[in-house]
Amino acid sequence: MTLRSVVRGSGSALPKRVVSNAELAEQVDTSDEWIVERTGIRQRYIADDSETTSSLATDAARRALEAAGFDASSIDLIVLATATPDQTFPATATKVQANLGIADCIAFDVAAVCTGFLYALTVADSMLRGGNAKRALVIGAETFSRILDWEDRGTCVLFGDGAGAIVLEAADEDGKGILDTRLHAAGQHNELLYVDGGPSTTKTVGHLRMRGREVFRHAVVNLAEVLTETLEGAGLTAADIDWVVPHQANARILDATAKKLGLDPSKVVVTVDKHANTSAASVPLAFDEAVRDGRIKPGDMVVMEAMGGGLTWGAAVLRY
Ligand code: UT7
Repeated sequence: MTLRSVVRGSGSALPKRVVSNAELAEQVDTSDEWIVERTGIRQRYIADDSETTSSLATDAARRALEAAGFDASSIDLIVLATATPDQTFPATATKVQANLGIADCIAFDVAAVCTGFLYALTVADSMLRGGNAKRALVIGAETFSRILDWEDRGTCVLFGDGAGAIVLEAADEDGKGILDTRLHAAGQHNELLYVDGGPSTTKTVGHLRMRGREVFRHAVVNLAEVLTETLEGAGLTAADIDWVVPHQANARILDATAKKLGLDPSKVVVTVDKHANTSAASVPLAFDEAVRDGRIKPGDMVVMEAMGGGLTWGAAVLRY
């Protein structure tokens, strides 16, 4: 018997307010043309005061549970990836647990910024296969709008808020489930993408800072490498892949990575135009969209990948 983490359902949630590039161009020295040409982003969703990382995460989790047909009480593990928790502690995962009315389960957050969902997925997969839990909610949720410097045109136009969730269940079922995951970090590159605050240093929340061009260069190389490593780990080639669900940072990174691996661009799920970069939420948001619109079907081979602050990067391949 080969126990794997099988995806039973997915869900996502976005804030109510949509902010177009034109609207941003009224606040900072930028233009719709520059943003679309350099990033592919056309709009982003921005949370209002009533919308938090935990509220978006809870909405996404509820939709994922509904899609799976599972009662919240059957969940025994919640792993939530975020770099923008509601508070320093408690873990946002425990807030989602409380919102869902789950009396007792394992619940904690994972911090790997834009790679957070891949880290959370890997941890949950290990725990499910190891017998620590049977049904898991894996969530990526962010409100990056709260840590942006709205006067820095080099970063504020790039990010948005949102949440995505999937329900995993340990099962032995027709070769379905997570087949391989690979994670990496290179802390020597902390200074390329970071927040200039935090409770144990500056006593402030701080703002996101990025050396975009350098992050871009690392992204294309690291993502191509980790995708190759993950496919090899699962005994697959690019030709076996039905869908690529990448972290949505920049349309040019998606194109360059697909090209490097010889992947058909029409197999790449793109949501960066609508959602912008939602950090840990971007992969599950894109996955849920492609499941709901019928692109990703049962039995499809799906590869997920992400790269972000740390630097961190990773990939996962699964049969849906
Ligand atoms: O999710 C985590 C991982 N993050 C990423 O993967 C992000 C990776 N990086 C990128 O996506 C790109 O590097 C950016 C979109 C951030 C920037 O694109 P770029 O083509 O690398 O532009 P650049 O930073 O080299 O800037 C080019 C020019 C500069 O002007 P000068 O110095 O050439 O006169 C910038 O000041 O574009 C200017 N610029 C802007 N102009 C209008 C930068 N931001 C803007 C803006 N509007 N919003």
